[in-house]
Amino acid sequence: MNNGGKSFWLLIMLLTVFMYGATNLSCDYGSNLKNQLVAHCDNRGFISVPRNLNRNIQVLDLSNNLIPVIKNNTLINYTKMEILILNSNNISEVHECGFEGLRYLRILRMENNAINISKLPSRVFRPLENLMVLEIGWNEKQWMEHESFVYPDKVFSNLKSLQNLSIDLFDRPVFGNGFKLLQNLAVLNFRRCYMRKHGKLSNETFRNISPKLRELYITRCHHFFHIDKGILRYFPQLKILDLSHSYIHLYQALNILYPYQNKNMSVINFHHISDKSINNDKFPYSVIITKELMRYLKSICIEALDLSATGIVDDEFYSLFSFQYPGCFKTFIISANRLPSTTLEHYLQTVVFLTRATNLKTYDMSYLPAQFLNPLYLDVYHPEKFIGSHNQEKQHIFHKSFRHITINLPPLLEFVRFTHMTVVSASVSFRCKNASLRYFDVSYSIFEQYPNVSNECVKELIYLDVSGLSSTTMFQSISLPKLTTLKMTHASIDRSIIEGRQWMLGHAPKLKSVDLSFNNLWTLLNTTLFNDNNITHFNLSNNFFRRVPSTVYKLRHLELLDLSNNLITSIDYTFRKWFDEIIVQHQNLSINLDNNALVCSCDTVEFLLWLTKTKVSFVNGNNYTCTMSNNSQVNLIKVTKDINKYFADCQATLWLRIGIILISCTFGVSIPFSILYYYRWKLILFLFRTFRRAVERDLYVNYEYDVYISYEERSISWIKNHLLPKAEKEWGLKTFVHDRDLLPGELTSDSKALSIHQSRHVIFIITERFCEYQWGSFEIERAKYEKYTQNLMKIIVILQNVHVNDIPEQLVDISNDVIFIKWDEHETEISENQTRWFKLKTLLFLN
Ligand SMILES: *[C@@H]1O[C@H](CO)[C@@H](O)[C@H](O)[C@H]1NC(C)=O
Ligand SMILES: *[C@@H]1O[C@H](CO)[C@@H](O)[C@H](O)[C@H]1NC(C)=O
Ligand SMILES: *[C@@H]1O[C@H](CO)[C@@H](O)[C@H](O)[C@H]1NC(C)=O
Ligand SMILES: *[C@@H]1O[C@H](CO)[C@@H](O)[C@H](O)[C@H]1NC(C)=O
Ligand SMILES: *[C@@H]1O[C@H](CO)[C@@H](O)[C@H](O)[C@H]1NC(C)=O
Ligand SMILES: *[C@@H]1O[C@H](CO)[C@@H](O)[C@H](O)[C@H]1NC(C)=O
Ligand SMILES: *[C@@H]1O[C@H](CO)[C@@H](O)[C@H](O)[C@H]1NC(C)=O
Ligand SMILES: *[C@@H]1O[C@H](CO)[C@@H](O)[C@H](O)[C@H]1NC(C)=O
Ligand SMILES: *[C@@H]1O[C@H](CO)[C@@H](O)[C@H](O)[C@H]1NC(C)=O
Ligand SMILES: *[C@@H]1O[C@H](CO)[C@@H](O)[C@H](O)[C@H]1NC(C)=O
Ligand SMILES: *[C@@H]1O[C@H](CO)[C@@H](O)[C@H](O)[C@H]1NC(C)=O
Ligand SMILES: *[C@@H]1O[C@H](CO)[C@@H](O)[C@H](O)[C@H]1NC(C)=O
Repeated sequence: MNNGGKSFWLLIMLLTVFMYGATNLSCDYGSNLKNQLVAHCDNRGFISVPRNLNRNIQVLDLSNNLIPVIKNNTLINYTKMEILILNSNNISEVHECGFEGLRYLRILRMENNAINISKLPSRVFRPLENLMVLEIGWNEKQWMEHESFVYPDKVFSNLKSLQNLSIDLFDRPVFGNGFKLLQNLAVLNFRRCYMRKHGKLSNETFRNISPKLRELYITRCHHFFHIDKGILRYFPQLKILDLSHSYIHLYQALNILYPYQNKNMSVINFHHISDKSINNDKFPYSVIITKELMRYLKSICIEALDLSATGIVDDEFYSLFSFQYPGCFKTFIISANRLPSTTLEHYLQTVVFLTRATNLKTYDMSYLPAQFLNPLYLDVYHPEKFIGSHNQEKQHIFHKSFRHITINLPPLLEFVRFTHMTVVSASVSFRCKNASLRYFDVSYSIFEQYPNVSNECVKELIYLDVSGLSSTTMFQSISLPKLTTLKMTHASIDRSIIEGRQWMLGHAPKLKSVDLSFNNLWTLLNTTLFNDNNITHFNLSNNFFRRVPSTVYKLRHLELLDLSNNLITSIDYTFRKWFDEIIVQHQNLSINLDNNALVCSCDTVEFLLWLTKTKVSFVNGNNYTCTMSNNSQVNLIKVTKDINKYFADCQATLWLRIGIILISCTFGVSIPFSILYYYRWKLILFLFRTFRRAVERDLYVNYEYDVYISYEERSISWIKNHLLPKAEKEWGLKTFVHDRDLLPGELTSDSKALSIHQSRHVIFIITERFCEYQWGSFEIERAKYEKYTQNLMKIIVILQNVHVNDIPEQLVDISNDVIFIKWDEHETEISENQTRWFKLKTLLFLN
């Protein structure tokens, strides 16, 4: 009885285990490209190697399970296995006969476990006589306090066929005699680096590693350590040396290259080898390249060299670019240093190099700060004054010798990146014979003159990035027959439009993806670029569009339209209809309206109804907020769900519209104050939105700010405590206050002029000390200019406790066009309607 009960429970338990196994712990079979039978057992929650798999499997993927131990003979029945993947388990123990039977295993991956490699039984790899690849990195860290770490060479010496070994690098490593038996080792990849500060890799470290080694990776060692010069002398056939992200300093890295003089190498990767964290007298962060340093590197025939982020600040003549075999290069990367190209000689070196590197395919020379254009200096005797460097002789000479540099691009060059360079002096022309240029990125560089690129050079171009360059200086006209991607963000296209120019002339019939974000655009005129093409992705985000620009109408293949971060209030009927047509045609249109000024009011009800019905998909699942007429923000989904509730009184507001029509007619003459008062701010706000928008549309003016405030220091507290709370919080205006809104680093005069240009109105706050304000007269001049060119702007002068003599003369001159408000700072107010606040508000809200 007792026995029977036990068996019963055992049966139940077995059953549950079996069922559990059947549902969750089963593997899928498949075959890979090589037609091998694969068992996919990854991510299944296995806690041991499954026993009942097909015996003929050749590949077993057990990654991402919870197996803690590889037991004796547990894989013995899978004799045909060639690839075993045990990555990301919890393996801390492997029994001596754990891999028994895997005679044909070629690849064993067991990274990211908890194996202490010192504890591996010495005969554990004995059955794996055909193993070619062993990946055992990302395992338990070994930490010897004062001794060297001796790799268990006996364990590894059984792997006679091993070619690729990937393992962690521990401090003061010793690779014992057993490694001599790995005669075919070709790739040694150190995965995780535990080299300690001031550790060392010595002449003897790699003594026992195979001389056939072709690839060596010692990457991501974030502590500085010493490397003996002779460390690589055992590897005469090395083709790839990758020391990227190991902070061993360029001096040491260049020094160990001596065995490879006049030899061929495929890759030398020194990316980010010097770091700010090492900066001492012997190994300074700023490296000046000398002939002596380059003596080994320059005599190697290298296919791909990466010297980016290595701390180079300068180079002696005939050092950095004096390679003996420039024709070997296919890839050359030297970005993110602080290399100057300031003198003609330096400049020409790179040019000469580029013309001699006839096989170059990829050239990346980006993120190189050199010199700023037209710097302003302080006068040492009068530090409050600036001295410009305009038309100095020095520059004149510079220009003369630099006038034309013609770079003949190598015929095989495909990828060129010149992004984020501070000043590219001189005018550069790119000439091409039989160009294969496909990718060209010159974004965010400062050119004294835009490079002249011939049509021949861009005939194969697929990707063009000219972001950050002013569109006013851009290519005049260019034909881009194969271009598919154009990036032109931060290109001040608005300036081109204001100046009445086409911002990009050209022909790009294959264009698919266009990015025009961050261009202050409020309108998008015709450009030949958009004629008869197949644009599918159009990014117009971060502009000032108040409506969907009409150009979009042409793009019948549109799939993604990004209008986020604009000022769109709703989508009008024509476009709604058009979007619906497009979606019927190709079933795939997505619009992003994030962060716009969507309005939920009686005027936009039809738009809201459309949102609920249309098949157009909205990025962010039309989870947008919109503004109600009482200025509150509500969730658009909520509103569309309950339109009747929100807009029951739409009929009732009709009277308002009629009133507005009446007023609009008399608007040019004058507005009776009583009517204004009667309809109060509701009406004014409405006018503010609609009428002004109409005017602005015609003038193509876009306003970033409602008010620009010009003031001297002592007015700050009044502005902060009184004016801003009213104007911004209460009236919802956007003001420009230079102490707050001027970004540091911007050229003050330019930004001020631009901000005044982008403001509806200007307020001058005149106090007795205003005349001492540095920028006062500049701002008055700019305001006058804008006033007379646009005539929309109001110049409002607030006089605070000022004597007539203290009003700047420039303002007195134009007093007919200026509105003065006398305002004593300490005046007490009775109620808003009677005070100057009311006057100011009216002035600001009405044109
Ligand atoms: C291997 O196969 C034998 C006989 O078919 C069986 O007895 C044994 O349990 C199997 N071993 C494993 C680990 O699956
Ligand atoms: C595994 O097998 C070896 C050799 O047969 C034996 O010495 C060892 O004790 C076994 N380990 C376990 C945990 O059974
Ligand atoms: C991994 O193994 C250790 C013991 O080796 C154990 O304490 C731990 O719980 C295991 N982790 C998981 C997720 O199973
Ligand atoms: C690894 O195993 C060795 C030998 O048993 C031992 O000395 C060492 O402390 C272990 N390391 C860790 C991190 O457990
Ligand atoms: C061995 O390493 C080389 C170089 O990293 C790689 O190209 C090759 O595919 C590796 N072999 C296997 C079987 O993974
Ligand atoms: C390391 O080898 C280089 C070149 O073989 C030799 O000049 C140097 O003296 C050696 N350094 C040490 C510490 O053995
Ligand atoms: C190095 O490569 C060049 C071609 O790039 C070849 O002509 C030359 O024979 C190679 N030299 C050696 C030593 O392999
Ligand atoms: C230009 O390059 C193409 C292939 O890229 C080649 O077929 C053609 O012969 C080259 N023409 C000249 C003049 O080198
Ligand atoms: C660019 O170069 C072409 C050919 O040399 C020349 O005709 C054209 O005037 C140049 N354009 C500019 C803006 O310098
Ligand atoms: C636009 O795409 C269609 C097919 O998607 C193609 O037939 C047509 O030639 C393309 N137009 C241009 C100008 O490339
Ligand atoms: C815009 O382009 C179309 C066709 O390319 C042309 O018919 C139309 O006149 C252009 N409009 C303007 C304002 O230039
Ligand atoms: C909508 O957006 C808000 C804020 O961005 C977020 O908290 C909310 O979870 C979103 N709702 C849905 C349904 O995505």
